[in-house]
Amino acid sequence: MCGIIGYIGEKKAQPILIAGLKNLEYRGYDSAGIAAIDKGRLRIARAKGKIRQLEKKLSERPLPGTIGLGHNRWATHGLPSEENAHPHVDCKKNLVIIHNGIIENYLPLRERLKKEGHRFGSDTDTEVMVHLIEKYMNLGLETALRKALKMITGSYAIGLISRKDPGVLLAARQGSPLIVGLGKGENFIASDVPAILHLTKKVMYLCDGDIAILTPSNVRIKNMAGKTQSRKVREISWDPVSAKKSGYPHFMLKEIFEQPQAIEDTFTGRVSPEKGKVYLSEIGLSGKELKKIERVVITACGTSWHSALIGKFMMEEFARIPVEVDYAAEFRYRNPILNAKTLVIGISQSGETADTLGAMHEAKKQGARVISICNVVGSSITRETEGVIYTHAGPEIGVASTKAFSSQLVVLYLLSLYLSDIRKEIFLKKMRKYILDLKKIPFLIKEILKRHPEIESLANIFYKKTNALYLGRGEGYAVALEGALKLKEVSYIHSEGYPAAEMKHGPIALIDKNMPVVVLALKGRRYDKILGNISEVKARSGVVIALASAGDKKIKEKVDYIIYIPRTNEMLSAILAVIPMQLLAYYTAIKRGCNVDQPRNLAKSVTVE
Ligand code: M6R
Repeated sequence: MCGIIGYIGEKKAQPILIAGLKNLEYRGYDSAGIAAIDKGRLRIARAKGKIRQLEKKLSERPLPGTIGLGHNRWATHGLPSEENAHPHVDCKKNLVIIHNGIIENYLPLRERLKKEGHRFGSDTDTEVMVHLIEKYMNLGLETALRKALKMITGSYAIGLISRKDPGVLLAARQGSPLIVGLGKGENFIASDVPAILHLTKKVMYLCDGDIAILTPSNVRIKNMAGKTQSRKVREISWDPVSAKKSGYPHFMLKEIFEQPQAIEDTFTGRVSPEKGKVYLSEIGLSGKELKKIERVVITACGTSWHSALIGKFMMEEFARIPVEVDYAAEFRYRNPILNAKTLVIGISQSGETADTLGAMHEAKKQGARVISICNVVGSSITRETEGVIYTHAGPEIGVASTKAFSSQLVVLYLLSLYLSDIRKEIFLKKMRKYILDLKKIPFLIKEILKRHPEIESLANIFYKKTNALYLGRGEGYAVALEGALKLKEVSYIHSEGYPAAEMKHGPIALIDKNMPVVVLALKGRRYDKILGNISEVKARSGVVIALASAGDKKIKEKVDYIIYIPRTNEMLSAILAVIPMQLLAYYTAIKRGCNVDQPRNLAKSVTVE
């Protein structure tokens, strides 16, 4: 997730681009850059870090020009650095591009272009696009862009300008958000409304396959075949603050709704259902080295620890390798038994959690092979490990982790399949099926999200309660823990997650008519057992809210409320099941008047022990 903005008009581009980037900083902040064309000269300024670093540079040497592009980067390919910051240029420095998304086939394209003599200045996937366009410039800018886009696979929202054609700004979209803002004698492109809301309220949302051709006085939209398209002009009524949250009242809700995209971005480029293959070269260990691994230890804190628990189920199921899960702070201080045949995996959204960082350090010291799963490129934990598999969830602003959790589950699923392939534990046919199941998840999450009013009305039961119990078995137990953590951290209602079978060994004493009990009761190998646990709760007058598989009629007469979720394979069910849990916590907290984005006493990254 990065932020992009483009301007063409009569005003100075620089202040418009910088103001827009500041309003898009929530989309990425590890480097920023702008480009502008003035009197046939293309100038670029880029800086690592936040926009104020870029502003410092610009204060010494401003960029003149009334056409330009700007970019906030959230690194995916290549570390955060000035070289990897956008915009990127072609060899002759005629063309300049900005990009949000992931080009899946950039490596073979890059190799080919290099052989043809193109010189690359960055490690990014983006740069191949500008060189491809350069290659076809004899056809004219628009056709060259179209031709290049046809050669790439992946997702993109791009802006493109040319020193030789400063009267036009081109933009294109496939799978990443992009809007066109309409002004008087000026037009804009942006990833999102907040970038341009102070300049215009008239916007067009581009569709996949659209190419927009902007001049100061006109905007035309075409498809990939060059045919003109018409897109509705919408009047935006949001105030600037709600615009940063894309119209959502809180970042937490926005991030819950961003999960289909975050998940898609996380598996894009890493799977081939046709070949039945998962690609994770960034793991940092060769197939030969991975074959030597006899045991896995996953360590993390909070929500990331819950994803580790689910990872254990996935890895043991698919790769048939023993997995232990440990709280990072416990792991590092208990003299764990590790050696070169142990793979230690640290999971962290921020990559800065002190306990997890300490655990990675300890594991390395004791001679284990150490990798991480992380959302923030270049963060401390990633620098401590041999390999990193990044989640591509984009910046998570809400303190309660939501989209980072589901993206971590995607990486753990991919890693489990990858290991199972290396260890020859899986048949091709099954591998293909599991990959196809994963590809359906974004769509299934959208289906669940559409039913948010149902969950909002359930919050009416919760918001006056002082306690709640969440029960589940297997992966459902980990989701119960996560559901309970979400509720307690944003609504301050005391809630506990428990393995459903353990309830009878103690917590059952708590159950009465005032105790809401959320039960993860999805179809699968533990379904009948869970129905038994539901009866135990009902026999003590507990109020049961069941999370059930679509079409399950049997459960209806046993519980008080049901949230149905679509069916998927058991190993992916947690990704779907957690969505209603997140929404329930959110709506309950809102009804209690809590500050969901910054709950009391909590911090987004916990850098103390
Ligand atoms: O950045 P990390 O994933 O390492 O953070 C770990 C925990 O601090 C974090 O998950 C915390 O529990 C969240 N508040 C949960 O919503």
